[in-house]
Amino acid sequence: MVRIICYLTTIVLLAVSSPAAETPRERLLMDSNWRFSLGHATDVAKDFDHATGQFSYFAKTGFGSGASAAKFDDSGWRKLDLPHDWAVELPFSERGSNSHGYKAIGRNFPENSVGWYRRKFTVPASDLGKRVSVEFDGVFRDSIVWINGHYLGEEQSGYSGFSRNLTEYLNYGGENVIAVRADASLEEGWFYEGAGIYRHVWLVKTDPLHVKQEGTFVTSELKGNAAEVTARVAVVNEGDADAAFEISETILDAAGTTVASTKAKPLTLRAGERGEFSDVLPVSNPKLWSIETPSLHQLVTTITSAGKVVDRFETKFGIRSIRFDAKEGFFLNGKHVKLKGTDNHQDHAGVGTAIPDALQDYRIAKLKEFGCNFYRASHNPPTPELLDACDRLGMLVIDENRLTGTTDFHYDHLKRLVVRDRNHPCVVLWSIGNEEWKIEGGEDGVRIATTMQRWVKQLDATRPITVAISGGWGGGFSKVIEVAGINYLGNMKKGGFTTDQWHERHPDQPIVGTEECAFNQTRGIYFDDREHCHLNAYDWDPSDWGSNLEAAWSHYAERPFLSGMCIWTGFDYRGEPTPFNWPAIASQFGILDLCGFPKDGMFYLKSWWTDEPVLHVFPHWNWAGKEGQEIKVWAHSNCDEVELFLNGQSLGRKTMTKNSHLEWPVKYAPGTLLAKGYKGGKEILTSKVETTGAAASIQIEPNRSKLAADGSDVAVITVRVTDGQGRGVPTAGQEIRFDLAGPGKIIGVGNGDPSSHEPDQFIATKETPSPVWRRSLFNGLAQVIVQTTGEPGEIKLTATSTGLAPATSALRSESITPQPSVP
Ligand code: GAL
Repeated sequence: MVRIICYLTTIVLLAVSSPAAETPRERLLMDSNWRFSLGHATDVAKDFDHATGQFSYFAKTGFGSGASAAKFDDSGWRKLDLPHDWAVELPFSERGSNSHGYKAIGRNFPENSVGWYRRKFTVPASDLGKRVSVEFDGVFRDSIVWINGHYLGEEQSGYSGFSRNLTEYLNYGGENVIAVRADASLEEGWFYEGAGIYRHVWLVKTDPLHVKQEGTFVTSELKGNAAEVTARVAVVNEGDADAAFEISETILDAAGTTVASTKAKPLTLRAGERGEFSDVLPVSNPKLWSIETPSLHQLVTTITSAGKVVDRFETKFGIRSIRFDAKEGFFLNGKHVKLKGTDNHQDHAGVGTAIPDALQDYRIAKLKEFGCNFYRASHNPPTPELLDACDRLGMLVIDENRLTGTTDFHYDHLKRLVVRDRNHPCVVLWSIGNEEWKIEGGEDGVRIATTMQRWVKQLDATRPITVAISGGWGGGFSKVIEVAGINYLGNMKKGGFTTDQWHERHPDQPIVGTEECAFNQTRGIYFDDREHCHLNAYDWDPSDWGSNLEAAWSHYAERPFLSGMCIWTGFDYRGEPTPFNWPAIASQFGILDLCGFPKDGMFYLKSWWTDEPVLHVFPHWNWAGKEGQEIKVWAHSNCDEVELFLNGQSLGRKTMTKNSHLEWPVKYAPGTLLAKGYKGGKEILTSKVETTGAAASIQIEPNRSKLAADGSDVAVITVRVTDGQGRGVPTAGQEIRFDLAGPGKIIGVGNGDPSSHEPDQFIATKETPSPVWRRSLFNGLAQVIVQTTGEPGEIKLTATSTGLAPATSALRSESITPQPSVP
């Protein structure tokens, strides 16, 4: 019998959002106005003499000393807003870690590896009686939190979110201070991980009787044209008296129209008790969440006690069904969808891991541009805002646990991941780990995977579970995992199996490609230049485990039993500069570079992953000095035929094979390379590259020109230079200087060069209070990320470079209703 894993409708929630004026619940963003200083990992004196007293914070509560003390003078510390990654600010060093991109951080750099953050805030006297907590979406890593000098606990993980109760420690009607010490000496991954409070922080206030944070879990079942929605809600009574209350549920659609509701139900909870309540709500003709129309709903849970609304908890969710079929692959809302995916880490050019929410959207939209519909959050829990972006934009996700194991430590982190994320419609698979070499083929692997799967099922029975397997096929993980995750066809072959053989032997086990390809290609490079760690961007075979794009996609496309695959990776990332060491500092595995600029393979995928007509011819045609030499000219296209011309002369019309490309050997002569694409014998597209003249002018192009004046929104700006005829110069490498006027700031610059040691950020110091932001183009392109402040107005970015006509771009930052935040 074919095992069909069928999850008829899962629902989804997102983060709880805005407070309702009439209830005590407030969830306030606490990203602004922090103070920051480096401490020291080994020298206590340089670590503000922290914990040096006879009684330390571990001995007596309230004995936080040094920078953790409430009264510590931090007025000399740098002011900054979160999210913040101090690693990206540091220089590169050959003594740094290869896997982390040679930043001067880690065990060899104790002076750079500890960061202290402090945030003062006042709590009104009227808050006395409420429950107050602080939530961190993620701090890298080994963080300790104090409130007013009271130790609140440690969090080792750089990826799991955590919350700390503040209620009893606060100074009501006065000033309070949160101190955080993060220690990035130890690495968790084998890729760039950043350092510091690189995700959001929230201050949460509720009535003592309230819905537990992340306490809702909504599932649904599609029945014909209707959905049956089950809302499970955990309520806690943290007051000193027993509570009688009523709970009611309402579901709103995307337009805010009520589509289902329950009658208020009387309940009681004793003091200190927690209860779980559930309701079933029928929704007729729901707008289903899908990749194309990611329609979200909202569950509103209202708690009323003694005639007063004491809590109103909002949960965004989507209604949809998912199904992994061992024979036919993946189905969303009953419709077959081939999973066209990419693996991704969480850093971007310019900003490192401190990614503003709008940049998450930019990245997901970039992936969607070439038909990518599947994202593996490798190899750790992502920030919730990444999942929000995937929910909003329609991107399916494998949500991955970081460290595989079965102790309380492992369970705690796995549970936090599943409970936090189980309402996101985008999440369609849980992954319990990646390439656990020591156990993946053994009996210990069988036991560990079995236990972890049971745990996940207890927390969420609506989604299947996978693990990324690189070896031990036939034993270990592969024997017991619900959905087999293949990390590389080559590895599987070395393990004795092809996918066809595996499927024949395990006809009931769905399969997904968790990683494939892992090629090394540098954007805009067509001849290897190993001295500069640059590798050509034609689709070549990268290794004996990974394959090139064409072989990989053809393999997955041709087999319906394979649900789809993830390419290692969507974006380049810092660290793992395979196959190089210093001076390379970033990976080149991406379809897109660190900035999101496409490599040519992007057009291969766009050709075969979308229905849009595509014709892309490459390389560029600026090869002075190579006249008469043969150059490989390729076309990525989904046209039936493509004809190539050099300076008007046909070089032949060729027929395209599905999931393939076309190529011509062409003797270089400057001029115009023109490709014409035909469908059904009719010319439908042309694509040309021309030999350009020398660089004459700068051009800057923002991805958006209207921004929100919220101190968080960003514009991602492409910088290029053009010749006298306005044609982009593909080999340009000029340094460009950026000046900004108006209510905005530059938060990062990049160019996608995997061996560039230029700074991504220019931080104001006492010596250089107004640093000049600048960056060289790499193969014709650079990127500037501009962020708004809270002030509306015109933000003007000017780009200049000696000998080039400058460029200016105006962005409009518009007033919006500000997100509730801590002043
Ligand atoms: C895989 C691993 C990834 C990355 C990749 C590079 O084995 O899971 O994290 O290291 O190799 O090829």
